[in-house]
Amino acid sequence: MQLTQVMLDSIKKVEATRPKRKGMDIPLFSPEEKEQLLAEFHPDYRKSGFVELKVGANAGGKAPVELARLLNGTSRVYKKNINLDKIDYECDVLIIGGGGAGASAAIEALNVGAKPIIITKLRMGDANTMMAQGGIQAADKANDSPARHYVDAFGGGHFSNKPELLSQMVLQAPEAIKWLNDLGVMFDKQPDGTMITTHGGGTTRKRMHACRDYTGAEIMRVLRDEVINRGIEIVDFVSAIELILDTDGKAVGAVLQNNETGEILIAKAKTVIITTGGAGRLHYQGFPTSNHYGATADGVVMAYRAGAKLMYPDTLQYHPTGVAFPPQIVGALVTEKVRSVGAQILNIDGEAFMNPLETRDIASSSIIRECTARNKGIPTPNGYGVWLDTPLIEEIHGEGAILQKIPAMFRMYDKFGIDMRKVPILIYPTLHYQNGGIEIDKDCMSTIENLYVAGEAAGGIHGSNRLMGNSMLDIIVFGRIAGRIAGEKAKSVKIKKFTLDFVDKYQQEVEKAGVGTGVASPMIFPTYTHGNDKIQKLPIDQ
Ligand code: FUM
Repeated sequence: MQLTQVMLDSIKKVEATRPKRKGMDIPLFSPEEKEQLLAEFHPDYRKSGFVELKVGANAGGKAPVELARLLNGTSRVYKKNINLDKIDYECDVLIIGGGGAGASAAIEALNVGAKPIIITKLRMGDANTMMAQGGIQAADKANDSPARHYVDAFGGGHFSNKPELLSQMVLQAPEAIKWLNDLGVMFDKQPDGTMITTHGGGTTRKRMHACRDYTGAEIMRVLRDEVINRGIEIVDFVSAIELILDTDGKAVGAVLQNNETGEILIAKAKTVIITTGGAGRLHYQGFPTSNHYGATADGVVMAYRAGAKLMYPDTLQYHPTGVAFPPQIVGALVTEKVRSVGAQILNIDGEAFMNPLETRDIASSSIIRECTARNKGIPTPNGYGVWLDTPLIEEIHGEGAILQKIPAMFRMYDKFGIDMRKVPILIYPTLHYQNGGIEIDKDCMSTIENLYVAGEAAGGIHGSNRLMGNSMLDIIVFGRIAGRIAGEKAKSVKIKKFTLDFVDKYQQEVEKAGVGTGVASPMIFPTYTHGNDKIQKLPIDQ
């Protein structure tokens, strides 16, 4: 891919400042500067990006415009003749979502003697877990402790994390790593078997465990194998389109739809776990995303319509280093590990304008400021970007370091003729993660009885800003908790009559409030065809 003349001229400046920058200690922003950066430049602070919800458990609270559009949309089962008596799947624990949290939940549900079924709208493992690169945090080294991990994550989350969730996560982190290691995840290790750990933004100790920069793919590979080897039933290419409650208001299953045929299917369960992941494909505020194709907030939408409360739906994570060039992969993730192994962030003049390991919300705000208010970005066909000085990594660690430490990154750019060992790469914030989600308690139960949630669909663990490597951790810790507890609970559940009456009630409230958008909801799949409003209609909507 051809770099423009402006880019080439700027690279000369980057090269000129590199010797001086090598080993340079770039100060972190002061607390006051951080606050100002967030208020002026973070997308979460743009009023136009949010609306007040008028209906549901969070009425009166804020939600992103694009999510509210779905929450105020039309259920795919509304006014449809759904036969709830014809049961197609029956199990103890219905798990909706086939990523890392879903797999972990299924394994643990089975371990306590329950029968789980995993429903996934794509294939098992088509999930943000698979896309995760940089690592998974756990305080398992002698110079570290879960208490320190807690403080880092609590500060990074602006002290708004739900304490009982965060403490569970950090306390169970070392055991989560051991579990994965024992299952066969090939973590990076020293010749003597000690885990190699590095820093992430906002960490005061090196506690990031990684598998090169394919950490999520490696974890998902092992979990998927485990699910398959244990004979857990997986129903793929089938989408959950609405939850089912019983007349006591407890979660007892889901209405499903075969993606290909449009056939409606009913799943009956004693407990339900939502592990549907994130929302990047809603493209909040027009941002590109690092998320997989199925990240469309389906679980959040279904749970909300059924009456569940959301926590922090208005806080999103924009990963500071999304690809800004070449255009074919704009928004794809450039792992934070690139910075943790030494790359600096530079403007058009080759100046390091920020510490590369600021927490993500601060780093993104600083990059946005550099490109907008300060006009120091580098123009690209899609807008602008700033440099991530990757050749510096080889200057610091020696030749071969990039292929050794971040081979996925090298290959991603190499496909487009960009050799990141020789030239810096252009990056800009990309929509990466929903910090909020469905509110859960320490047992992963939502405000609806017998409806559990784990992974990115859950809110509260990370407060309003998650640190790197804590989502890989949370899917394992809370996936396992949800599976275990939902599996145990299933043993004593008595299901009453099925109902979808809550759908009619919710739709009537939406209509009464005059906020109905008419879009089919949940979204299930995004489409990128012009003029279709990003909502794909499934056969049931025709
Ligand atoms: O930058 C990364 O590798 C992303 C990690 C994460 O979101 O935890």
